[in-house]
Amino acid sequence: MSRESRIFKPSAEFKNQANLGSYATYRRLYLESVNAPDRFWGKQAKQFLAWRKPFSSVLKWKAPHAKWFTGGQLNVSENCLDRHLQTARANKAAIIFEGEPGDTRTITYAQLQREVCQFANVLESLGLRKGDRAAIYLPMVPEAAVAMLACARVGVIHTVIFGGFSAEAIKDRVNDCQAKLVITADGGWRRGKVVELKTNVDRALPHTPTVQHVVVLKRTGNAVVMTERRDRWWHDLMASAPITHKAKAHDSETPLFILYTSGSTGKPKGVLHTSAGYLLGTTMTSHYVFDLKDTDVYWCTADIGWITGHSYVVYGPLSCGATVLMYEGAPNQPEPDRFWSIIDKHGVTIFYTAPTAIRAFMRWGDDYVKKHSLASLRLLGSVGEPINPEAWMWYHTLIGKKRCPIVDTWWQTETGAIMVTPLPGAIPTTPGSCTLPFFGVVPKVLDEKGVEVPVNSGGKLFLTQPWPSMLRTLWNDDDRFKKQYWSEIPGLYFCGDGARKDKNGYLWVVGRIDDVLNVSGHRIGTAEVESALVSHPSVAEAAVVGRPDDLKGQALVVFVTLKSGMVASDALKEQLRAHVGKEIGSLAKPDDVRFAAGLPKTRSGKIMRRLLKELATSGDIKGDTTTLEDFSIITALKADEE
Ligand code: PRX
Repeated sequence: MSRESRIFKPSAEFKNQANLGSYATYRRLYLESVNAPDRFWGKQAKQFLAWRKPFSSVLKWKAPHAKWFTGGQLNVSENCLDRHLQTARANKAAIIFEGEPGDTRTITYAQLQREVCQFANVLESLGLRKGDRAAIYLPMVPEAAVAMLACARVGVIHTVIFGGFSAEAIKDRVNDCQAKLVITADGGWRRGKVVELKTNVDRALPHTPTVQHVVVLKRTGNAVVMTERRDRWWHDLMASAPITHKAKAHDSETPLFILYTSGSTGKPKGVLHTSAGYLLGTTMTSHYVFDLKDTDVYWCTADIGWITGHSYVVYGPLSCGATVLMYEGAPNQPEPDRFWSIIDKHGVTIFYTAPTAIRAFMRWGDDYVKKHSLASLRLLGSVGEPINPEAWMWYHTLIGKKRCPIVDTWWQTETGAIMVTPLPGAIPTTPGSCTLPFFGVVPKVLDEKGVEVPVNSGGKLFLTQPWPSMLRTLWNDDDRFKKQYWSEIPGLYFCGDGARKDKNGYLWVVGRIDDVLNVSGHRIGTAEVESALVSHPSVAEAAVVGRPDDLKGQALVVFVTLKSGMVASDALKEQLRAHVGKEIGSLAKPDDVRFAAGLPKTRSGKIMRRLLKELATSGDIKGDTTTLEDFSIITALKADEE
């Protein structure tokens, strides 16, 4: 664990203009939020959201099930769009879009609202009704936000599938939530090439009986096969759709979206978020953590396929009336300075990205940064994994020019919104720590028995009070929801991370301590990759472990035993990597495939991944092997290593 002691205080200049500019105010609000949560959240919900019908109760909590703001009604899309149209924001940019080839578009709030209304009408014309599910498999283009907001408007539950996922992954997700509609594109641009989204959908759809229609956005213009009656062009449907749509009022707990994420079994979990609480969490954190102002150009580089894209590209910032920059492509296309050139070109003021990206920029070299001024920036953010102090300092010095506060935000798909973070005008930062909890969040670092560990000792990270943007359940699997998050210590939320608190109460998150890996900020379940591997005809058994990696945070190392008669070869390694790419998506392709004669197991037959992890990390096994069934396996594995 790092012992970093450098402290960076917010500058007087930043504090003076901040939405929250004093530690004392943070502390007062925080104490109110945890000591009198009903009063606190009731007030915030009225201040930050536009209600059609006021709520009658703030929280009904029967652990682990929460109901926030019951009796109340609102429309999420109206909060993100219509409410700004009565203000000076009507004609301000909601989205500034830059495609990878360099095409740009600016869409005002009034224009975005019209497009969302039109697409809401399209959804209804295709027979979708409140509570139905629609899958969205689109590139990072404004239409992705249009599709999400149109679903929210109608009450259709969206599930966004990251464009890097394969046909198999689409099939699993669509079937799990029984989606009626898939919204996709002919393709998207990535590193100068077309990602064939529609083709992947076509491969999945013979196995998804619930899908009735596919709406296809024309983005790249490459040829796609359109299946008659099932497939419809986005532009055709929009051309005949009315530009007004009366948003219905939805109950606070109306499901808003399902987002699949990796867990400790082979089957992804469908995290369910609902309307009012989620919107309140994302709106308030956008306001306080990103310090959003009407003059800002805010850029979060996450893809809408991840929770960060949901909460901090679409719902949070649009609800705040911000100008959101959206970029379609890769950070090194055509050159590794694309991000910096976008910042200068569009005058980006707030920039939110992931440590893995920062480490890639460091590797590409400072010269790419130094070619650009970056003078418009005033605030930087980090998310997705622990940021190592070296990357933090580089970000601070090279990108922030020592002028911009850095908010290192800890949160998860399940938490919906940022949970632990500095408030940039109030809380001093220290490289590598996500610092202090946001309002209403009570993080505790506990040992096996549920006792708080001493200062600077490691333990498991729990959240001990319910918060508005918390996941409500796992789609179709409430038992797994209870078991996964609420059974480690009954009644407390276990997030799967290890952490410690320092003497100032600052939180240092170490990373996952369950069977989930964090590869380039993407969550990958070891069991998912293992089940993909054993579905290959030559594989008998597979064990997947993480190895620390300078660039990706963690790299995927797989140990494979082959069925008899199968021969280990480099060609087979490549085949297995490709197979995982096909089953899950290229983000899950193993970095290192190792063939083994056998895998170390306990007497009861459980694979001892701990030993494999040690081997993959240090090249040796020195840990406790007393429960190992067959020691010769270790000798063989070590011999392979040499
Ligand atoms: O391990 C933590 C890590 O990312 C996990 C959540 O992943 P996901 O649900 O995909 O959401 C990522 C974007 C919110 C966490 O359990 N993580 C996220 N942010 C941080 C982090 N680890 C350390 N510091 C962070 N700031």
